[in-house]
Amino acid sequence: MSVTHTLAQARQAGILALQEQQTSAGLDVDCLLTAVTGLSRSQILAFDERLLSAHEYKRYTALLARRQRGEPIAHLIGYRDFIDFTIKVAPSVLIPRPETEHLVEAALEQPADRVLDLGTGSGCIAIALARAWPASTIHAVDRSPEALEIAQQNARALQADQIRFFAGDWYAPVAVQQYALIVSNPPYIGLNEPELQQGDVRFEPSLALTSGTDGLSALRQIIAGAPARLAAGGRLWVEHGYQQAQAVRELMAAQHLIDIETRYDLAGHERITGGRTQ
Ligand SMILES: C[S@@+](CC[C@H](N)C(=O)[O-])C[C@H]1O[C@@H](n2cnc3c(N)ncnc32)[C@H](O)[C@@H]1O
Repeated sequence: MSVTHTLAQARQAGILALQEQQTSAGLDVDCLLTAVTGLSRSQILAFDERLLSAHEYKRYTALLARRQRGEPIAHLIGYRDFIDFTIKVAPSVLIPRPETEHLVEAALEQPADRVLDLGTGSGCIAIALARAWPASTIHAVDRSPEALEIAQQNARALQADQIRFFAGDWYAPVAVQQYALIVSNPPYIGLNEPELQQGDVRFEPSLALTSGTDGLSALRQIIAGAPARLAAGGRLWVEHGYQQAQAVRELMAAQHLIDIETRYDLAGHERITGGRTQ
């Protein structure tokens, strides 16, 4: 005789299994139940006497075991919400972070007709800008062919048809272009930082995370290359580590960018810095 489980029972057992490692155990369990049943979170809570099928329960316990090993929820369910859309993710791309939504907000303050997104990863920034500015030309670069494959799938699924994707090293594939806006969330963690051993980042590609011993190598290249690729009055916005803002402002000033300013993330950390050419 097969044992059946209600959503309430499965939920409770899942929370018990995860609560020692994950502060987000309740939310994690609801995400997994949503993925296996196709129900929304509110339906899971409202109809908690519904029985899980044997297939649903098997999938749920398999995902729960992977979560117990620390795998990111986004990898288990295959997507992450970003701003007002849902983006496919895989282990080959960085999982979009809430901090990066601030980068998009800052970039959107002034419309731009030609945009470059450096290190596009899942494509989340380029797609957000494409959705806001359907008439703009958007170029998106990444060195990882696997990331570009996911980004292109996301752009197709979200009808962000005007984005052109380029494989290569930062500005190399778009060397002769001029842009009104350059945006980038580059890798910015130092090679030996302890945070690389914690949480989701343990499962994400190091190409998306680390950049030299001080974490600033990519930011140095991106900022140094920006003036030559920006039209007059063009803007550069970058995301960076919470202790890197001063260094980033100095790098921008050294390139004679003006109107340099830093924005904070929701945790109150300096996270996004921008400047523009004269
Ligand atoms: C922090 S992730 C950002 C991904 C995405 N833009 C986001 O905000 O979620 C940095 C991205 O830069 C890419 N990258 C690293 N080094 C690069 C390089 N030299 N040239 C182009 N892209 C690079 C990585 O593959 C990764 O996708």
